[in-house]
Amino acid sequence: MNYTETEKEEIIVSEKKPKKFFVETYGCQMNVSDSEIVTALLQKEGYQSSSSPAEADVILINTCAIRENAEDRVRTRIRDFKSAKKQNPGMIIGVLGCMAERMKTKLLEEENLVDMVVGPDAYRSLPSLINDLEEGGKAVNVLLSREETYADVNPVRLSGNGITAFISIMRGCDNMCSFCVVPFTRGRERSRDPETIVNEARLLFEEGYREVTLLGQNVDSYQWFGGGPKKDLEKVIAENKNREIVNFASLLEKVARISPLLRIRFSTSNPQDMTDEVLHVIAKYHNICKYVHLPMQSGSSRVLEMMNRGYNREKYLQRIKAIRTIIPGCGISTDIIAGFCSETEEEHRETISLLEEVKFDYAYTFAYSERPGTPAAKKFKDDVPEEVKSKRMQEILALQRRQSLESNKEDIGKEFEVLIEGYSKHSRRNHLSTNSHKPIAELMGRNTQNKAIVFTSEKYKPGDYVHVRITKCTSGTLLGEVIN
Ligand code: 5AD
Ligand code: SF4
Repeated sequence: MNYTETEKEEIIVSEKKPKKFFVETYGCQMNVSDSEIVTALLQKEGYQSSSSPAEADVILINTCAIRENAEDRVRTRIRDFKSAKKQNPGMIIGVLGCMAERMKTKLLEEENLVDMVVGPDAYRSLPSLINDLEEGGKAVNVLLSREETYADVNPVRLSGNGITAFISIMRGCDNMCSFCVVPFTRGRERSRDPETIVNEARLLFEEGYREVTLLGQNVDSYQWFGGGPKKDLEKVIAENKNREIVNFASLLEKVARISPLLRIRFSTSNPQDMTDEVLHVIAKYHNICKYVHLPMQSGSSRVLEMMNRGYNREKYLQRIKAIRTIIPGCGISTDIIAGFCSETEEEHRETISLLEEVKFDYAYTFAYSERPGTPAAKKFKDDVPEEVKSKRMQEILALQRRQSLESNKEDIGKEFEVLIEGYSKHSRRNHLSTNSHKPIAELMGRNTQNKAIVFTSEKYKPGDYVHVRITKCTSGTLLGEVIN
């Protein structure tokens, strides 16, 4: 058969196999959310996502730079991919996210580890960077933006349970905590158009999702008035007298009103910015979860001052008191850094005493890791020996484990409304090992305070709300039975 030149071109295009990409994600929830945005952007350009790196033409590693050990883990993984590349020389290895932004061309040029380096605000350029690479050369885009929020991108959900999803409501951070690399890797703070946030949440609800977590480095400073950096607020208010200003409290309300069956969580709150207005909104709506993650970092006012956190021990305790007064029964968790520059044994004891006073439901504890370029790296000496940091961290972890167990024991006999997210780990393991096709009965869900609850039921499925009475517990999980 004879084809015209145009027909031949069309046949070649249609026979060209779609390129496959594989994304691996490290670090925080925001990175998970970013990988979902990257997946959507690439699929829109005809790329196919793959769950196997061996099959992929493009491997993307979405990285974290918050601590040195996070970067070490990523480096090891990149080396694995690089040796796999020997079998498949055409494969592209790209590094995305915070480590890409921090290292810039270093991973490419000095360490010769990867083919492509793309920072958190440059994901729209991924398809064109991949094209550039295929024509030879290396690809880098680490430009940070004051506007990019990917507001129009509908993320492809990768978490897989079909019940809970993340929604990015803002990007970047202006807080400049002295230990933190985030303001340098994720750039200036900017909020996303609330209409696109509410639409995304509504769509998720219509698809069967029952919980959204609103994400930002500092959700309390969310503010929308039609674009532009926050510092222009007064000018914009003067110019647009009738424009609605949406802060975090009003954003929460807008999302809460979508449906009483859609739960709302959020992360991360900042003790310096969290308002009573936000707490009252949480108390007012049944479907806004009674759970606040409020990083304290240290119990010592002197250390907090060096960390540039904008609050001291007393102010932190006042915020805890406000949460407990306005939202009785609220779950509270925190982040702690052990062994920050010049932290003395007495100051470490202040952290311990704050933990004993507050009795958090959970605490994430980290040993201080100096990040190059941060204010702390420039101004202070990382002078607490690693073994002292580790000893302090272990002490905090042991105390918190006891306190989490105490907090869980207090829940025995109580009844909670639970949103079922899926099956318990134990149930999934049994199912895999026996290859059974019987319904899996051990379900896992969370109460409003974010505690994981495991119980048995043949009647309910993921996405259902059930009432569960707690009968037993470990330091990490509550066990219970369904109440009719
Ligand atoms: N070293 C140790 N922990 C850190 N975090 C942020 N930067 C560092 C660092 N340089 C912790 C803080 C923050 C959490 C996300 O990570 O506790 O709240
Ligand atoms: Fe880092 Fe502080 Fe911003 Fe959190 S609030 S991302 S710790 S600078």
